[in-house]
Amino acid sequence: MKDLSSCTVLNNGVKMPWFGLGVYKSEEGAEVENAVNTALKHGYRSIDTAAFYQNEAGVGKAIKESGIPREEIFVTTKVWNDMQGYENTLASFEESRKKLDLEYIDLFLIHWPVKGKFKDTWRALEKLYHEGKVRAIGVCNFKVHHLEDLLSSCEVKPVINQVEYHPRLTQKDVLQFCKENDIQLEAWAPLMRGKILDHPVITELAEKYGKTPAQIVLRWDLEHEVVTIPKSVKEHRIIENADVFDFSLTSEEVEKIDQLNKDERTGPDPDTFSN
Ligand SMILES: NC(=O)c1ccc[n+]([C@@H]2O[C@H](COP(=O)([O-])OP(=O)(O)OC[C@H]3O[C@@H](n4cnc5c(N)ncnc54)[C@H](OP(=O)(O)O)[C@@H]3O)[C@@H](O)[C@H]2O)c1
Repeated sequence: MKDLSSCTVLNNGVKMPWFGLGVYKSEEGAEVENAVNTALKHGYRSIDTAAFYQNEAGVGKAIKESGIPREEIFVTTKVWNDMQGYENTLASFEESRKKLDLEYIDLFLIHWPVKGKFKDTWRALEKLYHEGKVRAIGVCNFKVHHLEDLLSSCEVKPVINQVEYHPRLTQKDVLQFCKENDIQLEAWAPLMRGKILDHPVITELAEKYGKTPAQIVLRWDLEHEVVTIPKSVKEHRIIENADVFDFSLTSEEVEKIDQLNKDERTGPDPDTFSN
């Protein structure tokens, strides 16, 4: 991992940057366009959006206007809960693709494991994958039992599980299961939406390394070989967040941050979320 273009190799051979920009709550139009523009200008090569975020058009526009060759940018989008099931998912994909105005999507994800539906949704993702419309397919918010259930019947294995992951929610069982099954873990809300940045363990390490608390937390993701996609719409933070490739944490420091875990979520629990 040397810079923003450094990649993990997914289980189907596709390369995905370790570090990207999240755009949840970046408003469609000027706000999201500026965020994506700024990130690409500063070397980001991975953008994480979703149908649910309602900003795919802005993401696509900024990508196009950047002038960066399409194949150098890794684009993720997701199918929302109310569009799950086989036919709906195919329709949702087409809508996302049109809004993004891209010929193909790099990574298409199931946003949440909707009970009774996610396996049919997965069959649609497999079809899109076989047709070459997406380069890789994966899931979000899957616990170990969801993954076991999917793995027992799928034809194509998910490449990614994108879950809430930060020092207060380390999900060791999910991380270990994913490592054992060659599924890349990806962190959403890696900064715990700002709520972990003033913890003394984090601020002391920030002082030691001459880094910011956000940089310590994002570096901790990379030390765990977890892909990370912090969101910001502010240029100085977009730059700050990505400046994590010139230092590393010791294994004791990683362990110290691990110990902050309280199984505390900022978002819903995948077993009880409302569809
Ligand atoms: N699959 C899923 O179910 C799921 C769920 C949620 C999110 N996601 C994805 O994961 C991405 C990241 O998660 P998230 O957006 O929920 O949370 P996050 O990245 O942990 O935090 C984003 C918040 O922190 C602020 N922030 C960013 N950099 C900062 C810094 N250096 N110092 C202090 N504050 C900072 C941002 O504000 P400003 O913008 O004002 O800088 C924003 O309010 C999302 O954007 C989305 O792409 C996926």
